[in-house]
Order: sequence, then C-alpha cells, then structure tokens
Amino acid sequence: MLFLDSSDPSEIREIFSWGVVAGITTNPLILSREAGAPDLEQRIRDVLSASRGSVSVELTHETEAEMLSEAARYHAWDPERVCIKVPFSEVGLKVLTQLVARGVSTNMTCMMSFNQAYLAALAGATYVSLFSGRIRDMGYDVRPIIRDTRAVLDREKLSSQILIGSVRHLMDVNEAVQDGAHVVTVPPAILRKMLWNPRTESTIEEFNSAWRKRLP
Ligand code: E4P
Repeated sequence: MLFLDSSDPSEIREIFSWGVVAGITTNPLILSREAGAPDLEQRIRDVLSASRGSVSVELTHETEAEMLSEAARYHAWDPERVCIKVPFSEVGLKVLTQLVARGVSTNMTCMMSFNQAYLAALAGATYVSLFSGRIRDMGYDVRPIIRDTRAVLDREKLSSQILIGSVRHLMDVNEAVQDGAHVVTVPPAILRKMLWNPRTESTIEEFNSAWRKRLP
C-alpha cells in the first residue's frame, strides 16, 4: 500500500482522487511546515475529511501520563481512523502497550533498526515505521533492514505491518515495495514523479496526433 506523507488537505484531496493512496501519515515537523501554528484538531479533521483510511497523528509529549492523555484526545477525533503515532523509546513502548490493550490503532515511529522494529512488533504495533532516508543519512543500507524485518514478522506470524517513511527519492519507494514493506508513505512531490515517463508521454502524443490527422 501507499500512504501520503502530508497534512495539506487540498493536496490530499487531489491525490486521493487518483485512487492509489490508502492512508495518511503526519508528524509534528510536517504539520509545523505546512500549517504554521495550526489548530491541530481542525487541521486533522480537515485531513480526515479529505482522505480515506488510516490517519497517523504523532504524540509530542515525553512522559507516559502526558502521552496517554494526548493519545486519548487524538483518538477521540475519529476512533476508527486516527492511528496514534508513538515515538520509539522505553516510555514509548509502555504507552504503545497500553494503547494496544485498549484496541487503539498504533504506529511506532522514528525507528532506524531491525531490533527496534522487532520490539515494536512484539508490543503489538499496528505499523512499525522505519525511516529510510534518515537510516541512509547515517551510512546504513535500509534494504536489508526491511527484508530482515519482513522475514521475521512473517516467520513469527506477528501482525504488525512495516511502514517505510522518510522517503527522499522515487527509488526509495520502488525498493521498499520490492524488499517487503507493507506500506510506503510518500511525500506528494515524489508520488507525482512516479507518474512521469517521457516515453509514455511521447507514445500518447504519437497516438493522439495520428488520430487527429486521420483521413476522413
Ligand atoms: C512518516 O511517517 C515520517 O514521519 C516521515 O516520513 C519522516 O520523514 P523525514 O525523515 O523526511 O522527516
């Protein structure tokens, strides 16, 4: 599946009309960049109404009590569709475990390694998010991490889905899908690049031009 990594309702509405996107991921950085200092609830409600499927909303506090209370607030906006994005840490695992026990959809995020993704999967996260671009920034190859994580999730019949974020290039999407990611969350600009091929454009132009010039 492809998700859209965006909080821009008009971009989301447009790209959902292509029929290829199944959900949304947001994070505090995306929301700050795209919406300035938004009314978060209104912004997420706009994102919900512009989209279908899961909408990840990330916790911004760092203590267990604050994170649980923040999660309860976000979850209430749409219990069927809001997925609580929990940053990976020891506290994060405790918070996630309690959300899982309450049947809340969860996305454990900011993970850079197989071991972190495995722990999140054992704790029952709906999605385990590995950050492709940030892993590569550190000089590591993300491809074996995706393949190893997928192999162990399948072998141990863990229900978590691998979500690849931090996508910087079109090939990050192709490789993640080929390596076994269940979901890749793609920024709008990169999804638009996936449409484009010069040979497709020239072929369509050749066909339509021949049709326009046909003999009566
Ligand atoms: C998605 O869930 C992530 O929050 C996002 O893709 C992170 O991207 P970045 O590494 O470009 O900030």
